[in-house]
Amino acid sequence: MANVDAALDAAGLTNPHVRDYVAYWAEVTGAERIEVVDASDDARLIAESVEAGDLLPAGEGRYYSRSYHKDTARSEERTIVATNDEAHKGLYNNWRPAAEMKELLTSKMRGQLVGKTMYVVPYLMAPQGSPLERFAAGVELTDTRTVVLHMIRMARVGVSYINDLADPTSFVKAVHVAGDLPNLGQGTPDDQRYFVTVADERTILHYGSSYGGNALLGKIAHGLRQSSFDGFASGEFLSEQFLLLGITDKQTGEKYHVVGGFPSASGKTNLAMTLAPDALGDRYYVEFYGDDIAWIWPGEDGKLYAFNPENGVFGVAKDTNEATNPTALHSIDENSGAIFTNVAYNPTTQEVWWEGKTKNPPADVTGWEDWKGDKIADRSEDEKGLPWAHPNSRFTVALSQVPNVAPDYDDAAGVPVDAIIFGGRTRDREPLVRAIHDVAEGVYDGLTLGAEATFAADGLDGQLRYDPMSMRPFMSYAEADYAAHWLKILGQATEKPIFAHVNWFQRDAEDGHFLWPGYRENLRALLWLVQLKKGEVKGQTTPVGIIPTREELNLEGLDIPEADLERILSIDNTRWQQEIGFREEHLQQFSGLPEEIWEAHRRVAAALEAD
Ligand code: GDP
Ligand code: PGA
Ligand code: MN
Ligand code: MN
Repeated sequence: MANVDAALDAAGLTNPHVRDYVAYWAEVTGAERIEVVDASDDARLIAESVEAGDLLPAGEGRYYSRSYHKDTARSEERTIVATNDEAHKGLYNNWRPAAEMKELLTSKMRGQLVGKTMYVVPYLMAPQGSPLERFAAGVELTDTRTVVLHMIRMARVGVSYINDLADPTSFVKAVHVAGDLPNLGQGTPDDQRYFVTVADERTILHYGSSYGGNALLGKIAHGLRQSSFDGFASGEFLSEQFLLLGITDKQTGEKYHVVGGFPSASGKTNLAMTLAPDALGDRYYVEFYGDDIAWIWPGEDGKLYAFNPENGVFGVAKDTNEATNPTALHSIDENSGAIFTNVAYNPTTQEVWWEGKTKNPPADVTGWEDWKGDKIADRSEDEKGLPWAHPNSRFTVALSQVPNVAPDYDDAAGVPVDAIIFGGRTRDREPLVRAIHDVAEGVYDGLTLGAEATFAADGLDGQLRYDPMSMRPFMSYAEADYAAHWLKILGQATEKPIFAHVNWFQRDAEDGHFLWPGYRENLRALLWLVQLKKGEVKGQTTPVGIIPTREELNLEGLDIPEADLERILSIDNTRWQQEIGFREEHLQQFSGLPEEIWEAHRRVAAALEAD
């Protein structure tokens, strides 16, 4: 058994509550060694991982890892929110009683670290000194070194973040045990995995995965699920699956901040890293703040403020290339410290490749291995069409490596929010952009976000479903309370942001091509929204919001067929009336939904009928 005190003393970890917590779990898991981690340990841990073969070099200062082949995405059905009060049970949070889950998870983790190291990762999910800092500290205990390396990139890591807490008990206890991955029955009736957030005890217990979304507990489990609960319980803030970006108009010097909720793998990272398309010249500059999570609160001056609690990017590799997202490519250049997971790899040349990195895969397949480690050259005729990389393969890199990261991304004060947008993969109905001034209608629009699920969630790719505010997989308490909390926080702002719904993914019914070029060109829709907010354009009013006229939307340099333009800049009333019926059923599942939301729904329904 490890000598816990000696290890914590050596690391200068003095918070007595953290020490008790580490000692408790060292005892339960039977850990042989305790290692307290600081961000400055990165180079040593990388060297150890390369030595052990958990990481492979991918050129200078970049690394490659593979996860177990049945452990490549978040599992929604194995994710549970537990509390001591059944009032927190919602439609999507898989609520269970806290006591039952703590007992189950403790029994699963018992003895799992015999002969192994327990890494202690103290972290902060906020810029230092932020007004929400007391919700941001945590300590992840993990058995997996590559998880530690990902945490160093994705969070601020070091003992200083937890030694001097104003309330020394105000840290999240986050325990991660990967377990025996080949023997966990993933996806079978005998599935052993449990990803539990005991929200009212600020305790996270994840067993059975080393995939980022399940195992980097600072990121999703704390930064999104736990903190959304904390925001509600304290009444102080929202924690949302939102990107955060800034648009600067160099001609006027004005800067606008936009947050946006799109389901996983639906374009948040790409939009936040976007560059102005060449056709717009160099008038606009987009700055990156965050690509997956924003914490939002009403400031004393009546504006809404936001920051990104993360310290890094966990981006989808697929289709990232010089044309779609040069910013992402340059953030993962040599010596960026990037870690690639489940892309294709060539051990001889140390190159990596994924679908869409280049138009065709490398012509000379010698040495290349697919994401499972199988040689491409050995593929049978049947296997030739299989992707080389997993569709949910990822890169992980610190924010400081992103070329367009905003100079003030780490500012404790956050930035004022001018617009809140929602979007997702919706193949019909949703136009390119529709703007909404009214707050209740904006919140209603978020609650009725309907889109296709993606490969970021195991087994759900392509399923059309409602995903309120894109938070369905991260919802921590009852949806009706969530809606009321949104209205309350927005109600406290005297300077209201404009809302909008965007869709880059409308498709042709016949051949399935995307009607809008997407990626960098998406900035055009955001610029129109900013102009609308400033009163420089009027748009056309429709029953479901204001949409741009052809003349208002800057289409310079684009070559979009007339029929496609017509589709993305119009409202199909019949299709929308049908949608209203679906929405009604969807909303009826949330008992006690605020009356303002129902009023917004009825207003939209009536406007569609009158149209
Ligand atoms: P996130 O998971 O929400 O951050 O989504 P990403 O930005 O990582 O994108 C997920 C996938 O969608 C990637 O394969 C992107 O290449 C693709 N994607 C992102 N933006 C667009 C877009 O505007 N149009 C199209 N067609 N694909 C996009
Ligand atoms: P994503 O992040 O939203 O960028 O895909 C990870 C996730 O939500 O699983
Ligand atoms: Mn996400
Ligand atoms: Mn992303």
